Amino acid sequence: MVELTMLKLWLGIILLFITFFSNAAGAFIGINIGTDLSNLPSAMDVVAILKAHQITHVRLFDADAHMLTALSDTGIEVMVSVTNEEILRIGQSPSVAAAWINKNVAAFLPSTNITAIAVGSEVLTSIPNAAPILVPAMNYLHKALVASNINDQVKVSTPQSMDVIPRPFPPSTAAFNATWNSTIFQMLQFLKNTNSFYMLNAYPYYGYVDSDGIFPIEYALFRPLSSVKQIVDPNTLFHYDSMFDAMVDATYNSIAAFNLSGIPIVVTETGWPWFGGTNEQDASIENAETFNNNLIRRVSNDSGPPSQPDIPINAYIYELFNEDKKAGPVSERNWGIIFTNGSTVYPISLSNSDSVSKNSSGVFCVARQDVEDKKLQSGLNWACGQGQANCTAIQTGQPCYFPDTLQNHASYAYNDYYQKMHSIGGTCDFDDTAMTTSQDPSYGSCKFTGRSISSTGGLFPSPAFGPVGPSSQGPIVRAFSVVFVLVIVLSLVIVDVNIYNTL
Ligand SMILES: *[C@@H]1O[C@H](CO)[C@@H](O)[C@H](O)[C@H]1NC(C)=O
Ligand SMILES: *[C@@H]1O[C@H](CO)[C@@H](O)[C@H](O)[C@H]1NC(C)=O
Ligand SMILES: *[C@@H]1O[C@H](CO)[C@@H](O)[C@H](O)[C@H]1NC(C)=O
Ligand SMILES: *[C@@H]1O[C@H](CO)[C@@H](O)[C@H](O)[C@H]1NC(C)=O
Ligand SMILES: *[C@@H]1O[C@H](CO)[C@@H](O)[C@H](O)[C@H]1NC(C)=O
Ligand SMILES: *[C@@H]1O[C@H](CO)[C@@H](O)[C@H](O)[C@H]1NC(C)=O
Ligand SMILES: *[C@@H]1O[C@H](CO)[C@@H](O)[C@H](O)[C@H]1NC(C)=O
Ligand SMILES: *[C@@H]1O[C@H](CO)[C@@H](O)[C@H](O)[C@H]1NC(C)=O
Repeated sequence: MVELTMLKLWLGIILLFITFFSNAAGAFIGINIGTDLSNLPSAMDVVAILKAHQITHVRLFDADAHMLTALSDTGIEVMVSVTNEEILRIGQSPSVAAAWINKNVAAFLPSTNITAIAVGSEVLTSIPNAAPILVPAMNYLHKALVASNINDQVKVSTPQSMDVIPRPFPPSTAAFNATWNSTIFQMLQFLKNTNSFYMLNAYPYYGYVDSDGIFPIEYALFRPLSSVKQIVDPNTLFHYDSMFDAMVDATYNSIAAFNLSGIPIVVTETGWPWFGGTNEQDASIENAETFNNNLIRRVSNDSGPPSQPDIPINAYIYELFNEDKKAGPVSERNWGIIFTNGSTVYPISLSNSDSVSKNSSGVFCVARQDVEDKKLQSGLNWACGQGQANCTAIQTGQPCYFPDTLQNHASYAYNDYYQKMHSIGGTCDFDDTAMTTSQDPSYGSCKFTGRSISSTGGLFPSPAFGPVGPSSQGPIVRAFSVVFVLVIVLSLVIVDVNIYNTL
C-alpha cells in the first residue's frame, strides 16, 4: 500500500512537472486575419469567432483600430503589421516611425496584448526597391518602442518569403540569395541585438506544386513517408519527415552562414488552400484538412526542426477567412479555415491539445439534435422569457453567440434554466426538445454551468482531429523513380530505412 501511494505521488509530481513544462515552453498556433473579403464580420464578431475557437495568437496585416480595440482584454496575443505602403515613409523618418508606434501600438497597450510588429510583407521579394529602407524602418520603429519603454514586450521583425533562399533543399546547403547579402546581414544583426526573431512565410503547398511531382505529397502534408521515400540530408544525415521542417531548417542554415546564432524562427504564414481552379487539383478540402491538422499536431509536439531540436516552431496558419476579393488564381481566394458564420470549413481544432474534451461529472441540459426549428425557437423563447434564464451570453458579441444557431442558443438557455431551477423541481424537457448529458458543452470562453464543473473541453468547433488516414503508397516502380529523381535533381540521399538503421 505504501508503495502504491508513493507511486501515485510520483506520478502526480511528474504530471505536474509536465504540465508546468509544457505551459512554459509550449509552442503555439496562431492565425492570420486577412480582411480582403466582401462580407467581413464586425471586429467584435471576428473576436467572438476567435474566442469560440480558443485561438490565442493572431497576426493582423495592418493595425486596424477597431480590431485592436475588440481584441483588448481577451488575452489574445497580437502581431500588428506595417503595410508595404507605409514602409517607405517610416524608413525615411524617425518621427513618422514614432507617430506610427504611438497611434497603433502604445495607444492600445496594455489592454490589447500587442507583442510584435511585422514590418512589411515579403519586402525583399515583393518590393525589392524598398530593400535599402527596410532595416532603417525597423530601427526607427524599435527606437520609438525604446522611447516609450515598451521594447521588451513588443518585438520588431519582418516576414520573408522562402523565395529569398533560391535552393532550400537539401537544408544544409541552403543560403540566402546573395543579391540581398548586405540587407539580410543588417536585418539579422538587428534581430539579434533586439532579442527578436526571424519571421518566415513557409508554404509547403507551393514547394510541392512548384516541384512538379519531384516530392511525394505525403512529404508536403506531414504524412508518413514510405521506407523507400525517406528524405535525408546527405551532409547532416538528418531525416526530414516534412517539407515544413526542411524549410525551417533551410532558413536556420542560411542564417548560420552569417555566423549569427540564437535567432529563433517563427513561421508567420503557412497553410493550404481548400479549393482551386481546374488546374489546381492539390487545393482540396482533404489536403487542407490534412495539412492544417497535421501542422497543429507537429507544432504542439514542441520540438524544433532537426538542426534545432530544442527551439519549438511557433506558427501562424494562413488564414482565418477566405478572402474572396483577392486577385489571382482561384486557390488564392480559398485559404480560409472558418466561414464568416463561425463554423469551420473542415474539422479542425485550434485549441491547445491539453483541452481536448474530457468527461466531466457535471450534468448539463442541452437541445436535442433532431427537433424542428419551430419547437426549438419556442423553447428558447420560453427559457429566456418566463423561464428567466440568463441569456446575456448568447447575444451578439457575447462569448456564446457563435455558432449563431438555434441549437447552440437553445442549449445555452436550457442549461442555464436547468441549473438554476433543478433543485426546485425544474426539468430538462422543454416540450421534449431537451436532454441531459454529462458532456460539458463549453467551448472557448463560452462556459456552460454544470452541477460540477470539472472540464474545459468543448464540442465545438467539431470533432477533434482524428487520426490521419494511412498514406497511400504508390506502386514500387513509381517509388523507385521518385528516389532516382530526388537523388539526381536534389542531391538528397534517399535510403531504405532498414539499411540506414544498420549503418
Ligand atoms: C501578453 O503576452 C505575453 C507573452 O505571452 C505574456 O507574457 C503576458 O502575460 C501577456 N500580457 C497580458 C496582459 O495578457
Ligand atoms: C537572386 O535575386 C535576384 C533579384 O531578384 C534574381 O535576379 C536572381 O535570379 C536570384 N538568384 C537566384 C539564384 O535565384
Ligand atoms: C554573400 O555573397 C557572396 C557572393 O557575392 C557569397 O560568397 C557569400 O557567402 C554570401 N554570404 C555571406 C553570409 O556573406
Ligand atoms: C563565419 O565564420 C567562419 C569561421 O570562423 C569564417 O570562415 C567565415 O568567413 C565567416 N563568415 C562570415 C559571413 O562572416
Ligand atoms: C515531434 O515531431 C518531430 C518531427 O515530426 C518528430 O521527429 C518527433 O519524433 C516528434 N516528437 C514526439 C515526442 O512525438
Ligand atoms: C456557415 O456557412 C457555410 C458557408 O456559407 C455553410 O455551408 C454552413 O452550413 C454555415 N453553418 C451554419 C452553422 O450556419
Ligand atoms: C466518458 O464517459 C462515457 C460514459 O460514461 C464512457 O463510455 C467513455 O469511455 C468516457 N470517455 C473518457 C475519455 O473517459
Ligand atoms: C448574466 O450572465 C452574464 C454573463 O454572461 C453576467 O455577467 C451577468 O451578471 C448575469 N446576470 C445575472 C442577473 O445573473
